[in-house]
Amino acid sequence: ITKTITLNTGACMPEIGLGTWRANEEGLLAKTVKTAIALGYRHIDCAKFYGNQREIGKALKEVNVPREQLFITSKIWQNKHRPELVPGALDEILDELQLEYLDLLLIHFPYALKPEKATKEFTADDLENVPIMDTWKAMEALVDSGKVRAIGVSNFNKTIIKKMLPQCRIVPAVNQVEIHPYNPSSELVKVCQENGIAVTGYCPLGGTKVSVMDDKLIKKIAETHGCTPAQVALSWILSRGITVIPKSTNELRLKQNLEKVMLTTEELDLISGIKKREHKVDPRLDLKELEWVIHDDIAECPLI
Ligand code: A2P
Repeated sequence: ITKTITLNTGACMPEIGLGTWRANEEGLLAKTVKTAIALGYRHIDCAKFYGNQREIGKALKEVNVPREQLFITSKIWQNKHRPELVPGALDEILDELQLEYLDLLLIHFPYALKPEKATKEFTADDLENVPIMDTWKAMEALVDSGKVRAIGVSNFNKTIIKKMLPQCRIVPAVNQVEIHPYNPSSELVKVCQENGIAVTGYCPLGGTKVSVMDDKLIKKIAETHGCTPAQVALSWILSRGITVIPKSTNELRLKQNLEKVMLTTEELDLISGIKKREHKVDPRLDLKELEWVIHDDIAECPLI
């Protein structure tokens, strides 16, 4: 069973979780969830948008682990930002996962799409101006309902976080963002951690597009420790107090990803010193209108 970090709610979150994005092959995900739980994973990261929550829910029903020992996260999609749509969005997620409550519910992205836009493909015409605080207040009400134990955000940059904080009744427990050695997001992580917001790193291995695991330095450090580059990358992220949700459907790699490596301070600093920058920016964020979402130096957040 993995180590946990304590959220600002007092709840414990396992520092290593199972990512379930890009695991849509029929039957494979259920098998992966069951294998992961048998290996000791207790934290599963889901999202409405991934389109696979029913399969995860079914697998969770079949494993013999008490609900209170699991930490289940999900995320509301961008077409459910209107405050009146938020409670129904949660009910749908709970129905798909067949759960009574979530440990953590996140706003998947900081900008809204029109309600009919449930898919990934959209244009600037499909954006909708729902102030993020309106959505956040609806999220806060969900905590009061008992159906979620904690609420948080995902893909929020430091500008948005700073603007939100003074207006929050409940401070986000988590900001889940892309973190790996080629996208360390040091300033964002600092702002979050200084304000009691835990950071979870998605694509901690760089996902399928970013070649972190081929990095010369990371490979060399892995050789020194007789471990894999993936373990080095994950251990470096964990050393920064950031939780990770690597995705794998392979039993050996699932097991490896749970095994932390004790890197020396020097090794950690060397990895922090990597200058290469690459990120798995979703093509939809290339929209001109959304530059403010990904570029931290743009002070204007038009939707706040
Ligand atoms: P696979 O499922 O075949 O293991 P992310 O950074 O988004 O979590 O991406 C993980 C990607 O890296 C997946 O494509 C996954 O493929 C692969 N992967 C996961 N764990 C490891 C590992 N320990 N070593 C090498 N590749 C891995």
